[in-house]
Amino acid sequence: MKKMVLLLLFISFATVYGQKPALQIIPQPVEIQQSEGSFVLTKASTIGYNSQESHKIADMFSLRLNLSTGFSIKPQDKAGSIQFNLNKAPVTQLGNEGYSLVSSANRVIISANTPAGLFYGMQTLLQLMPKEIESKAVVKMTWTIPSVKITDYPRFGWRGIMLDVSRNFFTKAEVKQYIDQIARYKFNTLHWHLTDDNGWRIEIKSLPKLTEVGAWRVPRFGQFGSRTAPKPGETATVGGFYTQADIREIVQYAQDRNITILPEVDVPGHSMSAIASYPELCCTKDTSIKVNPGSSFSEWYDNGTFKMLIDNTLNPSDENVYEFLDKVFTEIAVLFPGPYIHVGGDECYKGFWTKDSACVALMKKMNMTKPEELQAYFMKRVETILKSKGKKLIGWDEILEGGIAPEATVMSWRGIKGGIEAAKMGHDVVMTPTTFAYLDYQQGEQTIEPPIYSSLRLSKCYTFDPIPEGVDAKYILGGQGNLWTEQIVTLHHAEYMTWPRGWALAEDFWSPNASKNWANFIQRVEKQFDRADVEGVNYSPAIYDAIIKVSENGEKMTLNLDSEVPGLDILYTVDGAMPNIYSPKYSKPVEIPDGPVTVRVVTYRDGKQLGHLITLNPEQLKMRATKN
Ligand code: ACM
Repeated sequence: MKKMVLLLLFISFATVYGQKPALQIIPQPVEIQQSEGSFVLTKASTIGYNSQESHKIADMFSLRLNLSTGFSIKPQDKAGSIQFNLNKAPVTQLGNEGYSLVSSANRVIISANTPAGLFYGMQTLLQLMPKEIESKAVVKMTWTIPSVKITDYPRFGWRGIMLDVSRNFFTKAEVKQYIDQIARYKFNTLHWHLTDDNGWRIEIKSLPKLTEVGAWRVPRFGQFGSRTAPKPGETATVGGFYTQADIREIVQYAQDRNITILPEVDVPGHSMSAIASYPELCCTKDTSIKVNPGSSFSEWYDNGTFKMLIDNTLNPSDENVYEFLDKVFTEIAVLFPGPYIHVGGDECYKGFWTKDSACVALMKKMNMTKPEELQAYFMKRVETILKSKGKKLIGWDEILEGGIAPEATVMSWRGIKGGIEAAKMGHDVVMTPTTFAYLDYQQGEQTIEPPIYSSLRLSKCYTFDPIPEGVDAKYILGGQGNLWTEQIVTLHHAEYMTWPRGWALAEDFWSPNASKNWANFIQRVEKQFDRADVEGVNYSPAIYDAIIKVSENGEKMTLNLDSEVPGLDILYTVDGAMPNIYSPKYSKPVEIPDGPVTVRVVTYRDGKQLGHLITLNPEQLKMRATKN
């Protein structure tokens, strides 16, 4: 008996001792070997570096570390127990952004060919540490780092997120916070949508009205697109812009975190804020045009076409427009060190062009048969301007219509077909289709989430492969998630829309396609939720809400329930009661009884409610059944 107890004790000890904690890193590294034991970080630990560049990363790490541990470890120019090493001889496999991280009971060594790689190694190291490392206040605890050997590098060189600061202005501090958040998940590009109908956000010293007038709109709140138009004489008080000093500061801040900022000036459409500042730039030269405050000024038709009721389009036949753009891009080219400038090109209404005698004359002179060719002419002129400033043109996939500019890179947003077409013509492509990458879309149950016209669940984001079949991968630079902010006023809401879908995209763009695994990803997402809670970053819990589908067969309606998170208990009622742990648990499709029935659904796990209560009344059920 005594022997038996000893044996059992030994087995349980061996199990506990030999147990390796599950690693919860997002994006999933390329190779991980885990072994037993861990490094314990104490106030006696040291941080070492081997070069000027690795010193910078070591400093960043110690700042983060000291904040939550209360230690005051200062990096040193010699071997430390946590070591940041820039490789003296480059390791080919790691490329420009990869790193190796080796931790054992005695030491942690991060090595890379570049500061970018060291920065990413540091991000992985932070994710190996307890979630309390995200705390901005001191936490007393044991700081363990599991023993691992990680070799990691990205699948794509372009891993982007687009932030729209025109529809709603975000302050310099908020943009920096957003940069910090995306850098942690190894995104390397912030596409900054700086101009649109609703605000011009970048100081152009040679064109002061762009920010004196174009950065401000009349105060309107509530659902964007349904607000009232500016009244004559009404003062524009809402908005803001970045001075050139702000821009330099943000660009540097991003660079320190391996993020290239891609500035976008959206032309020739989406230009109402520029036109409100300089009405002579559009065909109608209408001096009553104001910066749009979120009131409706367009009609969209089922066949995908649209009409602008107010002129928001630059005049492609006017040489003054190209002089204007030359001034804008001269200043922008100096401020942003990246190779590209994004010039928009999307949703450009051509109805004012076809009514304008100068545009018609230009079409005739150039033997153009359709107005799309005018846009192509415009973009080719813009490409020449950009080239003269040493920059490359990138634009939304409409730049393919009427003939693409010779060296243009295409951002494919209306699905992937534009990207495929561009790549087949030998143009570089960034894939950012609405179907997988639009972060402004609703992410769960439509009666729960803030209203918007389309939906994109986390699970769909996670299946995104930027390389379409039959396309030469060398033309696909990578992918990007787009956060349009018509309906997003605060940084907290921007975070809610970005996470967790940004984590799926981070993995789509960084990790080997073959390593993707939904069940495993969801576990890691839940751990990131815990870290975000400690850090005070918002995210959407929409994945915990039930997915409710209703089908109709003659007079009968059937309820189909599911959840994105595997293994949740889905509890429902069709009898008017509130659903809870005592309600029927969904296991197979349920026929909805006749009558004016309201369905209520909720999810539980381990006896605790996780998802929101979802209530669908008879009209909503009917509508959902018809839609399916
Ligand atoms: C876009 O979503 N209009 C590029």
